[in-house]
Amino acid sequence: MSSLAGRRIVLGVTGGIAAYKAVEVCRRLVDAGAHVVPILTSGGRRMVGETTFSALASEPVRTSLFDDPETPIPHTTIGQSADLILVCPATARVLSDMRTGRSADLLTATILATRAPVMVCPAMHTEMWEQPSVQENLAVLADRGVLIVAPESGQLAGGDMGHGRLPESATVLAAVEAALGGGELLGQKVLVSAGGTREPIDAVRYIANRSSGKQGNAVAAEAASRGADVVLVTTQPNSAPTGVRIIAVETAAEMAAACELEAPDSALVVMAAAVADFRPAEPADGKLKKVDGAPAVVLVPTIDILATLGAAKPAGQTLIGFAAETDDLVTNAAGKLARKNLDLIVANDVSKPNVGFGHSTNEVVLLLSDGTRHDVPLSDKREIACAVLDAALGYRS
Ligand code: CTP
Repeated sequence: MSSLAGRRIVLGVTGGIAAYKAVEVCRRLVDAGAHVVPILTSGGRRMVGETTFSALASEPVRTSLFDDPETPIPHTTIGQSADLILVCPATARVLSDMRTGRSADLLTATILATRAPVMVCPAMHTEMWEQPSVQENLAVLADRGVLIVAPESGQLAGGDMGHGRLPESATVLAAVEAALGGGELLGQKVLVSAGGTREPIDAVRYIANRSSGKQGNAVAAEAASRGADVVLVTTQPNSAPTGVRIIAVETAAEMAAACELEAPDSALVVMAAAVADFRPAEPADGKLKKVDGAPAVVLVPTIDILATLGAAKPAGQTLIGFAAETDDLVTNAAGKLARKNLDLIVANDVSKPNVGFGHSTNEVVLLLSDGTRHDVPLSDKREIACAVLDAALGYRS
């Protein structure tokens, strides 16, 4: 059962264009069993219709401190009975009001009248997001314990690209679940590998691949938002999500050492990294010089980390691998699932447009060792991460 079942969540919708996404958040919260009390600010009402929220939420929309004769002081009643207040999207204005304790409308009054956790999902244009005033307000709110769902980069209103976009509804929902203490992975260790390994040829050159680490990062972030203690072994530490322990590595051998150390007490292991299958046998200590002619680089196999972890898999551990293929997707992936003693393999056809390496979207087939198969259509990598973890957790139970 979802940790949201029966929980009272006040959904405050303020006047950002991302308010349309709050409709989906509302729907998902209700589907997960939450009792959703929607409050729209005057800006929020300009962005989305009250009827939409009244139809989807558990109660009719409230918009004012004074519009309900039966509840003369709604902010205290709503604030006191809430298990969580979620402000989604949160504009720069509401963050400022929250910081100063200004009771400007029903939402801000309710936030002042609650002892429940408050979570904000800031969403705005990059220029606004980067203002020191906005960042300072957020830092103060974070210090006070307000939970912040960080915005993402991508397309913004008006076609602009940049930072400040509201994350997908699945991300917001996972953050709410984690905040309410019922994260499905609470107290469990999850090991994730991400990025492509780099195998040195000489002091300055290496053999690499196209992996960006985005899919592994998304799995790590998703597991963390479900309450897990996440260890991320990655070749791309600069783009790693917050809230996880990072082990930065370069080569397959370094990744193998870190994974073999961290795997035994992990409940879930997700090998999303693109590990080089071969490495130069004898990398030169210094830089190879052109005048010496084209070097004959002899390659030798690297360790298959996943197969090693599969052979030593402790009872109760769920081991997940990836298979990036260009031909015979399911047959090749099923072979790897069996050969490496996996519980689940995430197969993607990287010859398709917008799939796999470097993209922020993916399209995958999940094959489980009990013979079941789930096809996940082209989606954001975070949505793919959700599907992978859902499948893994469903498989375990
Ligand atoms: N993998 C690994 N160690 C390696 C190579 C791969 O742990 N040396 C893992 C990857 O992280 C991935 C899975 O194994 O989870 C499948 O990787 P892939 O390269 O597709 O499989 P291979 O077994 O190397 O097969 P091939 O390259 O021939 O398709």
